[in-house]
Amino acid sequence: MAADVVLGIDDLTVEFPGVKALDGVSFAVRPGEVHALVGENGAGKSTLLKVLGGVISATRGSVSLEGRPYRPSRPRDAQEAGIAVIYQEFTLFPDLTVAENVFTGREPHHRVTRALDYATMRAECRRIFGQLDVDIDPDARVGDLSISEQQLVEIAKALSVDGRVIIMDEPTAALASSEVARLLDVVRRLRAEGRSVIYVSHHLEEVFEVADRATVLRDGRFVATLDIAATTEDELVRRMVGRDVESVFHREDAERGAVVLQVQNLRAGRVLKDVTIDVRAGEVVGIGGVAGAGQIELTQAVFGALRVHAGSMTLDGRAFTPGSPADAIRAGVGFLHEDRKSAGNFPHLSVEHNLTMTVLDRVRGLGRLISTRRQREVWTTYRERMRIKASSHAQLISNLSGGNQQKVLLGRALAPGGHLLVLNEPTRGVDIGAKAEIHQLVNELTSQGVGVLMVSSDLPELLGMSDRIVVLSQGRVVGRLSGEDATEENVIACATTGRRIGVAA
Ligand SMILES: Nc1ncnc2c1ncn2[C@@H]1O[C@H](COP(=O)(O)OP(=O)(O)OP(=O)(O)O)[C@@H](O)[C@H]1O
Ligand SMILES: [Mg+2]
Repeated sequence: MAADVVLGIDDLTVEFPGVKALDGVSFAVRPGEVHALVGENGAGKSTLLKVLGGVISATRGSVSLEGRPYRPSRPRDAQEAGIAVIYQEFTLFPDLTVAENVFTGREPHHRVTRALDYATMRAECRRIFGQLDVDIDPDARVGDLSISEQQLVEIAKALSVDGRVIIMDEPTAALASSEVARLLDVVRRLRAEGRSVIYVSHHLEEVFEVADRATVLRDGRFVATLDIAATTEDELVRRMVGRDVESVFHREDAERGAVVLQVQNLRAGRVLKDVTIDVRAGEVVGIGGVAGAGQIELTQAVFGALRVHAGSMTLDGRAFTPGSPADAIRAGVGFLHEDRKSAGNFPHLSVEHNLTMTVLDRVRGLGRLISTRRQREVWTTYRERMRIKASSHAQLISNLSGGNQQKVLLGRALAPGGHLLVLNEPTRGVDIGAKAEIHQLVNELTSQGVGVLMVSSDLPELLGMSDRIVVLSQGRVVGRLSGEDATEENVIACATTGRRIGVAA
């Protein structure tokens, strides 16, 4: 193997029952390069990384590491060979501390007493978090952290392995933009140290910012390896999807109707202090703010999943006090959770069961038994409408690619067919083609009179898709932006500097 290859991937093929996730893929990763791996949902990116990480074995083909055959049969082999992987689906233990998670399986021990060496673990964690410029307590319980903090722990865990090759599967999917910038700095630093980074992301602007080269996969097959300096975003997208895709958001103007949701002086949970907001039929109201400003809590209160202390809500003009998510669904609220990895899905159930669970009362037949025929109809409708890529209705949701899992959950939110749709991070981890489809779907729904309350930490999406933006800070409304006021600068200014726009001081 040539000296300028650290990882050689040759004819790699992975078959799952009914799917060829990878089909004869070959390419090389050079030492000291950031090599992006891109492709649509289900293209095979995560599968390839799992082979490199020793999580699954290839059906055919081989990998070489610095010229020698590399065939890890478990994650430990990969670590010992100097390959560190940050997986798309978290692998953290919620009941353990941050430090315990970072060192899982290779905890340092005191030389004499053989007890766990917590001091070393803590110090090492602080060092890595220092590099990332974040402040996370090594003794905190992981289950108590926010998703973005958990993502940072996952990253710290990979960085603590002194890897030659560091593999990141959508590391920024759950990060705020300031955290993304810091992570990209870390990636550059790793490269400067002579390490190689394999970087998977649907955010092509990140790819153009840090990557030297990019390999494109489509339907499990190798398409091309491109020099980033010599290619354009359009070119990359065309290679990924095999057609031209409109990547800008088009918010079509829908007619505004009556107020669907009204929230008045809401105080709820620990964060929400005082929020007043309404959503009309045919309109998308976007909620902005820095992470933890109360966006998620607002959506949870509307979904009956958060204790309301004060204030009131109406839905379709009637008092609305959902005591549980079941109440909210019955009243016609469709809800997409921000975290598809844990609370969002039931990994041991099929895609069909995951999708139809919000409409169980509607798929019952004679004697109130669930009618498999009706259930299948609902599944088929949404599979087609959202172009969900699954091998069959019975496939476990956990075996779908990340973006296709998101589509199943969006289908679940839509299935009740109510007037109000609450979307948390609707296109997180979703590829560029599917993103356009989801935006199109939102346009369709609003033109049919649905009101949408949307939280998105993706600013271009928030600005591009919302008719109005309400910015929260510490549980209160600090900005109401529409028309010319709805700019990136204004959202950031309201969210971070305490400036107020469109709200009395
Ligand atoms: N354990 C499994 N059993 C069956 N099929 C699987 C399994 N894991 C993955 N697949 C299938 O293999 C294909 C490739 O999935 P993979 O997760 O590698 O895609 P991806 O490129 O990472 O997509 P995304 O961008 O959505 O994360 C998909 O069709 C998926 O459904
Ligand atoms: Mg993936």
